[in-house]
Amino acid sequence: MTSTLITGIAELVTNDPAAPDLLGAVEHAALVVEGTTVAWVGRAADAPAADAAVDVGGRAVLPGWVDSHSHLVFAGDRAAEFEARMTGTPYAAGGIRTTVAATRAATDEQLTAHVGRLVAEMRRQGTTTVEIKSGYGLSVHDEARSLAVARQFTDETTFLGAHVVPADADPDAYVALVTGPMLTAAAPHARWIDVFCERGAFDADQARAVLAAGAAAGLRGRLHANQLTQGPGVRLACELGLAAVDHCTYLADADVAALADSGTVATLLPGVEFSTKQPYPDARRLLDAGVHVALASDCNPGSCFTSSLPFCIALAVREMGMTPAEAVHAATAGGARALDRDDVGHLTPGARADLLVLDAPSHRHLAYRPGVPLVTSTWLGGRPLW
Ligand code: NIG
Ligand code: FE
Repeated sequence: MTSTLITGIAELVTNDPAAPDLLGAVEHAALVVEGTTVAWVGRAADAPAADAAVDVGGRAVLPGWVDSHSHLVFAGDRAAEFEARMTGTPYAAGGIRTTVAATRAATDEQLTAHVGRLVAEMRRQGTTTVEIKSGYGLSVHDEARSLAVARQFTDETTFLGAHVVPADADPDAYVALVTGPMLTAAAPHARWIDVFCERGAFDADQARAVLAAGAAAGLRGRLHANQLTQGPGVRLACELGLAAVDHCTYLADADVAALADSGTVATLLPGVEFSTKQPYPDARRLLDAGVHVALASDCNPGSCFTSSLPFCIALAVREMGMTPAEAVHAATAGGARALDRDDVGHLTPGARADLLVLDAPSHRHLAYRPGVPLVTSTWLGGRPLW
């Protein structure tokens, strides 16, 4: 197996849990890749010999972003809705139905090409693992094909038939469809099942029913909850021991306590608050309570059309009380935990060699230099994509 020594690393973020600092950062570092995995990390002075060498010229090397929440399978856009929000129109999840109509009208080839463009956009910004949800099909055929499209790009696919009740459907009949024939058609293409548990979407009993049916079909659960109002979703996710509950914008003290006790990851999606003008989630409150926090993009055409984890990191630092180290940790190790993955989100021996190179000497520059395309190279499974 060929080995490659990466040298010239000003700062290597390993996320080694045994290290004294959160990021397990090593200065003047080197890293050896063997095949698709990390074989060695440490100080450059101690580096072993390898078959080949790459000098990154005094840049920072970080684990690739693990974006644990996105909705990339859709057609059309809702830029007019965004523009209206900027002058005071509130965000309404009902806009989802606009995207459902456009998605149903698109061919498989159009959807695949669109997801491919968005995944390429993510890779250019350092994302190496991405979760992709369905949820803009909302029929047996369109949910199954959305997931089949997503599966071409990632193993982290999530069935979100329970996104909203389609315009023409009765809520009880729709839940029966989601937990019956739609789940049967979707399950072969999905690893996860998700529900939008929110007033105007699905209540806690409906979410419970969908998650139970998913579990019986072999799908692990995650939830959208507490995005627009306080509600029962976060506590339900904790009670069921789900890997993650996402949004967590409006939290009662009991929600924070439940998250801290359960180990369920709170995934924060600050691009949503940027784009909906709602208050940002209070990451500091969660971190101080000992909650595991992830940062993800939520890339979708309605509430947040960014694919950029660097942008989300900058928002988290500027608006949510996170240190640069906490934000980077949340976008890497946090995302990996939210997807129940131990092979990504860190650069310690045995990890997948998924990494990014920053045109900067330190992770701090991600928030310090917002909007600047700092990622100069993304490596996937031991090989640079560019
Ligand atoms: O995660 N909240 C529910 N779903 C998406 C938004 C979907 C849309 O507006 O199209 C979200 O924010
Ligand atoms: Fe979402």
